[in-house]
Amino acid sequence: MARIALVTGGMGGLGEAVCIKLAALGYKVVTTYSPSNKKVDEWLATTRDMGFDFKAYPCDVADYDSAQACVAAIVKDIGPIDVLVNNAGITRDMTFKKMDKLNWDAVMSTNLDSVFNMTKPVADGMVDRGWGRIINISSVNGQKGAFGQTNYSAAKAGVHGFTKALALEVARKGVTVNTISPGYIGTKMVTEIPQEVLDSKILPQIPMARLGKPEEVAGLVAYLASEEAAFVTGANIAINGGQHMS
Ligand code: CAA
Ligand code: NAP
Repeated sequence: MARIALVTGGMGGLGEAVCIKLAALGYKVVTTYSPSNKKVDEWLATTRDMGFDFKAYPCDVADYDSAQACVAAIVKDIGPIDVLVNNAGITRDMTFKKMDKLNWDAVMSTNLDSVFNMTKPVADGMVDRGWGRIINISSVNGQKGAFGQTNYSAAKAGVHGFTKALALEVARKGVTVNTISPGYIGTKMVTEIPQEVLDSKILPQIPMARLGKPEEVAGLVAYLASEEAAFVTGANIAINGGQHMS
């Protein structure tokens, strides 16, 4: 029986690459999209033309009730979730001087509360079945901080605190919990940075002098989801072209 993988935010740059990689490896892949997303049918049609049969469910990962309803619907329609990739996330970059409560809260709820909201309805089932993989997408900027990202850096650092604590609690139950901390990857999130800032402030910090590719992160997700990764838990794996070494 194919394992079932749930990838939040699978219609974004990184999430799509993860969906494609896991599907190519034989997982049954389910994804979520924001209730406001208007391109769901188009995305499903395009990926169907590519040969994939993704299932997609609306979910505001920042909202606890929405997350519970989404997971309940997936479990009922498709089956229990074996692999959860907490990928959905946003940026609201501004210097701390300009940071207001709205943009602080938006990033904390979408990037950190979401990890609780989505993991909560999934983890007990994994423990009961004695197998599970929880993969949380953090960021290099949660490890090192970033100019203009007090909200994002705090949320992403929090993600790894969550990973470590939960990894301890489920380690003896066949469930692993890990963090991936990508550096700058060429998706919408990064292409929205002003080109001048990208060229003058960010690319010079990356020893490989390029952005990462979504497929490179997807390969790491696939490894962490695999049987071979059974002894890896509580880890924070960097994939950043040498930008930050800890
Ligand atoms: N390091 C040091 N100084 C910086 C800087 C940086 N990274 N970015 C901007 N500054 C400086 C500018 O040089 C400028 O200095 P002066 O006043 O001395 O001229 C000052 O800060 C103000 O800069 P801006 O005019 O750009 O200010 P702003 O308020 O319009 O914008 C900002 C500030 C929103 C932080 C903008 O600079 C920006 O978008 N920076 C990019 C932030 C970033 O890296 N985001 C990552 C998004 S991708 C992501 O998050 C994915 C991931 O996980 C890796
Ligand atoms: P992206 O292309 O902007 O995709 C973000 C995804 O998150 C979208 O699919 C979006 O869904 C979803 N999302 C946002 N808010 C949501 C909400 N409230 N509820 C449900 N889904 C929501 O960004 P990306 O680059 O692929 O980023 C994916 C993850 O990687 C994020 O957690 C990001 O922080 C992290 N990351 C990215 C980079 C990078 O350089 N790109 C580096 C490090 C870490 P809709 O499209 O349906 O709204």
